[in-house]
Amino acid sequence: MATDVTDTVDVARPQIHVRDAIKSFDGRVVVDVDELILGDQPIEGLIGPNGAGKTTLMRMVMHSTPLDSGTVTLHKPNGDGTDIVLSDLPTYRMAEHGVVKSNQVIMDFGKLTIWDSLLLSAAEGTVERPQRIFDEQQVFDAHEDEIREQLAYFGFTDPTAFAQSAGEKKLLDIVRCLLLKPKFLLLDEPTAGLPDELTEKVMNRIRQLAAEGTAVVIVEHDLNVIWSLSDEVHFMAEGKMIMKGDPQTIRENRTVVEKYLGEGHV
Ligand SMILES: Nc1ncnc2c1ncn2[C@@H]1O[C@H](COP(=O)(O)OP(=O)(O)O)[C@@H](O)[C@H]1O
Ligand SMILES: [Mg+2]
Repeated sequence: MATDVTDTVDVARPQIHVRDAIKSFDGRVVVDVDELILGDQPIEGLIGPNGAGKTTLMRMVMHSTPLDSGTVTLHKPNGDGTDIVLSDLPTYRMAEHGVVKSNQVIMDFGKLTIWDSLLLSAAEGTVERPQRIFDEQQVFDAHEDEIREQLAYFGFTDPTAFAQSAGEKKLLDIVRCLLLKPKFLLLDEPTAGLPDELTEKVMNRIRQLAAEGTAVVIVEHDLNVIWSLSDEVHFMAEGKMIMKGDPQTIRENRTVVEKYLGEGHV
């Protein structure tokens, strides 16, 4: 049945539940989350001061940083009721379950052309696993049109080139995420360093994905992006979830202003 992409109200989204999750580095606790549910709302912002643990928390969800203790589970809306324990899965199996993350530190697109790196990314999201030999032509046929469309949208004119600037690599990482058709997308500073026009384009793609039923969680220092995109904002400080609420409530909250925004920011 076709879904109306403008109707965001009745789409069932997956949720990620984080419970009693602790991570220490060198004996110092950097993430300590009792209970966190992500995916209640289509787009959720995650904000907090530098070093609050935002990136570590996202990496724990992806299991690219192993937890010291606790669990992360994925609850699929139309599944058989059995949650998938993400904290038992290796990172490379996340995309199979629709869980995808962009990278704050951009991956190296420098050794493959733009086109080849995206083809490889698309192959990862299909039945072919990276460790299996995949039929290049098959992947090409399945994804050619979409890759062309995404590249055109973000203003890449020559797919046979190598990504040069940090901004280009950042955009390609976002295109990689989009090609994987995520059901749950985690974005770690996706628009940092991008010019306004491209930030706007990224934001539009995020809105579109969310409207189609993907749950999105976004970390971003540019708070205009957070206030404008998010249906709900989580505030994190010193490894703990301090509070959540709608953007207006969070930006006016005393504690958030004191610990993060500073006076005069509201
Ligand atoms: N691999 C690591 N080894 C040691 N300390 C780390 C490592 N990764 C993160 N940290 C520390 O954990 C804390 C949280 O970092 P991070 O999750 O990157 O915060 P945020 O993304 O909110 O800025 C910081 O104090 C950081 O220095
Ligand atoms: Mg970070």
